[in-house]
This record gives sequence, structure tokens and C-alpha cells, in this order.
Amino acid sequence: MKKIIMGENIVKSFGEGDEKRNVLDGVSVEINEGEFVSVMGPSGSGKSTLMFSLCGMDGIDSGKVTFSGRDLSVLKEQELADIRRTKMGFVFQQPTLLKNLNILDNIILPSMRDNRKNAAKITKKARALMKKVGIAELEKRDITQVSGGQLQRAGICRALMSNPKIIFGDEPTGALNSKYAQEIMDILSEINAEGTAVMLVTHDAKVAARTERIMFMRDGKIVSEMRLPKFNGTHIDDRMIKVMAKMREMGI
Ligand SMILES: Nc1ncnc2c1ncn2[C@@H]1O[C@H](COP(=O)(O)OP(=O)(O)OP(=O)(O)O)[C@@H](O)[C@H]1O
Ligand SMILES: [Mg+2]
Repeated sequence: MKKIIMGENIVKSFGEGDEKRNVLDGVSVEINEGEFVSVMGPSGSGKSTLMFSLCGMDGIDSGKVTFSGRDLSVLKEQELADIRRTKMGFVFQQPTLLKNLNILDNIILPSMRDNRKNAAKITKKARALMKKVGIAELEKRDITQVSGGQLQRAGICRALMSNPKIIFGDEPTGALNSKYAQEIMDILSEINAEGTAVMLVTHDAKVAARTERIMFMRDGKIVSEMRLPKFNGTHIDDRMIKVMAKMREMGI
């Protein structure tokens, strides 16, 4: 299996002097191309920090992060930004879309910044993605005029515009009710089935149960890992029971 991300013995601390604390305490993690993984763990265990370190958004104190074979620490700021913009997609709990821009313009904005000449092509692609996630008819709406689930779908479209090799999601369903959460998971599963790796942080057993590998964090370390067969739309309850049993065992 080809690795898309490799983190080796990552240490990251916050604070100074006596206050200094390792938030990531020697974490090693590998994600394969096209893999669908999740990270669970108590609040404050370092899940978001790990994700930010793996995508190069946050620097690390020691250890190494490699993306598609490239050591992130030796890249220039601009090279790193280019990799993030073209190879990685990000979906957060609250999509960071801009007010005063309609849904379509929000989705195309980052791509237009890169390549204004291709406006027609970019718009066509955005419309195809909106159709795929079921928000085609909302393109002219302001972001205050759609539901949370619809907004998150728009966030996913924006993340997909560059055909990323991996989507990072920090609690992408955290603000949604369970019906909308499952719809977002359907979309992420479909994107994954088409070959894009997905890494999610989640507190929700039903979300984690859709992934094929769950890493459990505690106090800045990955303390356990659980594998499931790739989700094919069936046996979600059985998968969830397994995840919940493991969560109980881990004291989450
Ligand atoms: N910028 C920062 N400065 C200082 N401490 C920080 C900073 N960011 C995170 N921390 C601390 O690092 C620890 C891990 O934070 P992190 O956000 O990674 O946790 P998490 O597992 O994502 O938690 P949650 O489930 O609540 O989102 C926490 O104790 C947090 O207070
Ligand atoms: Mg977090």
C-alpha cells in the first residue's frame, strides 16, 4: 500500500517553562492512499492537534511528517501552502464560508484565486459537485439562508474543488443532527470510494463505525487501534456496537 501521510514520533508541546506540556507525546501514524480512518479520544487528548500537525498547518517540536514522500519540515512556506491548497481538502465542524457571498461563489472562490482565466470550467465543476451532494438548487442562496447540513455540503464541495488526495475532517458532523450527519457520511463515503483518503476526528461512534480504521488517543498518544472491513452500506449497527464496546474499554 502506498502511504499518503506518515507521521513519525511526533512531539508537540504548548506552553513555556513549568507550564510546558506535550500535547502530542511521540505519535507515529501512517495513512494509506485511499484509506478511510478516524481518530477518537477524550476531549483534550490531542486529536485536533494531531490532524493540524499531519496537514502541516501546525509545526511540530520533533519527529517527522511526510506527505506523498515529501518531508514537510524542509518545504518552504509557499511549497507547503501549495500542497495544502492542491492536495488536501479540509472540512470543519463549522464550515468557514463567507457571508455576503452566495453558495456557488463561496465554493469557487479559492479556485478562482488560483486560476481566474478558467472561470467557466471552475463554475462547471462546482455545479457538478453541488449536484452530486444535493445542493444544486441552492447556488444563489446566501450562506445564512441554508440549513447546517446544506452548509456543510457546500463546505465539502469547496474542499473537493482541487481534487485533493486526502480530506481532513475535524468533527465534520459535530454540529449536525444525526440524519444530516449520516447524509454527510454518505457523501464522504462516496468520495472515499472514488479513491480519496479521508481522515476524520469524531466523538460519534456511528461516524467512526463508517471508517475502516479507528485510532484511539489519550494524553497525546495513540493508545489503541481498531480495524473494520471497508464499509459497504451494511451492518452499521454491528460495527457501531464494536466501536462502542471499544470506547467503553478505553474509557471514552
Ligand atoms: N494553541 C494552543 N495553546 C495551548 N494549548 C493548546 C493549544 N491548542 C491546544 N492546546 C491544548 O492541547 C491539548 C489538546 O488539544 P486538542 O485541541 O488537540 O484536543 P482534542 O482532542 O481535539 O479535544 P476536543 O475533543 O475537545 O476537540 C488540550 O489540552 C488543549 O488545551
Ligand atoms: Mg478537537
